Amino acid sequence: MNKQQSERWKDRSSRRIPGGAQTFSKGPLSFVQGVLPNFLARAEGPYVWDVDGNRFIDYILGLGPVILGHADPAVNEAVRHQLAEGMAFSLPHPIEVEVAEALCERIPCAEMVRFGKNGSDVTAAAVRVSRAFTGRDKVIRCGYHGWQDWYIGSTNRSLGVPEAVRRLTLSCAFNNRAALQEVFRANHSEIACVILEPATFDAPAAGYLEGVKELCAREGALLIFDEIVTGFRVAIGGVQQHTGVTPDLACFGKAMANGFPLSAIVGRADVMRWFEKVFFSFTFGGEAVSLAACLATIHELERRDGIAALWRNGARLQEGTRQLIRNAKLDGTLDCAGMPPWTTLRTLGMDERNALLFRSLFQQEAAKRGLLTHGNHMLSVAHDDSVIDATLAAYAEIMPILADALHKGDVERRLEGEPMQTILRT
Ligand SMILES: Cc1ncc(COP(=O)(O)O)c(C=O)c1O
Repeated sequence: MNKQQSERWKDRSSRRIPGGAQTFSKGPLSFVQGVLPNFLARAEGPYVWDVDGNRFIDYILGLGPVILGHADPAVNEAVRHQLAEGMAFSLPHPIEVEVAEALCERIPCAEMVRFGKNGSDVTAAAVRVSRAFTGRDKVIRCGYHGWQDWYIGSTNRSLGVPEAVRRLTLSCAFNNRAALQEVFRANHSEIACVILEPATFDAPAAGYLEGVKELCAREGALLIFDEIVTGFRVAIGGVQQHTGVTPDLACFGKAMANGFPLSAIVGRADVMRWFEKVFFSFTFGGEAVSLAACLATIHELERRDGIAALWRNGARLQEGTRQLIRNAKLDGTLDCAGMPPWTTLRTLGMDERNALLFRSLFQQEAAKRGLLTHGNHMLSVAHDDSVIDATLAAYAEIMPILADALHKGDVERRLEGEPMQTILRT
């Protein structure tokens, strides 16, 4: 694989851009250095091309936003139309109302809507409005919720967040109702909200989400679903549509505009009306091009039955991967976990360091065979049968290599560059 241009750009970047990227997950810590490309230049459908012209099937998809496929013609046409009409207006534009109406028709908890740009905008807004609504300060969180102080202060990446802020956010394990109940008990009448990812690579256990909802209602706390990843992916309306459990508020982002920067907080009208007083206000709120991309994304997902395609193709990939894992006798070491539209190769029974080395070897061998991945499969509608076939053909070669490396105990020695590193422990 030619990497000359990638190395040149990396060198230039290192002098001007701290960390070499705008997002940890796109930067050098997340890819085997010296093996994976550093810069991408072009993307179309399920494919990306790096700056040296190498083509990859993309299983990262810009960290999740590209739900229809890169450079989708219908979305790009809607964007071109809106660009010609203008994008940054000094009064609200009708498209804000149209997208808000479209979301309320599709997301179970949505009675009113406010827009943001990043997922972190709307998770922070959800926490702030919950504090205003309940008159309480403490928050229980479960999962990843972005870069803002209220959340990141509760992780191992808390550098720069004041202790006083950190103390207000409490963590709780997913799928553990008893643990949540205990946190409520220890902080009686102090909890403003519980914010959680309603599904990750672990599905919610039977009755868990219902139990959390019931606990929140009993304790007078709001329930917020962070559907930044699951929204427009497991269903347009997210996990709440899929499971029938409706939260008070929900946060959407990533896939809602096929890569254009848009997020939304939606929910109960009596809570959302507090945004008439709570300060959630910024220059690019209501930017019209991303809203046009969102409307087109909704229409195209529905016209092409896109969500069903994600489930169908994702199931083929998941089942095929599991079969290849079994063929290589890696079951017990590796699983393809998660819901079909968003799965991961999960290591079993390895400590953090060995798991990272193992995932690094997987990433290296996948890249050599034209797959760009962190070890997860973000699917787009453009990941059709032929893309899944090509992926499984590559996995048929990779799984025996991984098994052999484990058997011989030389995973690290096979790495041709610096391994991936842990960015965050949630
Ligand atoms: C579940 C979840 N919530 C919130 C966020 C934050 O979104 P953003 O990175 O767009 O600010 C992310 C981002 O990965 C996420 O996965």
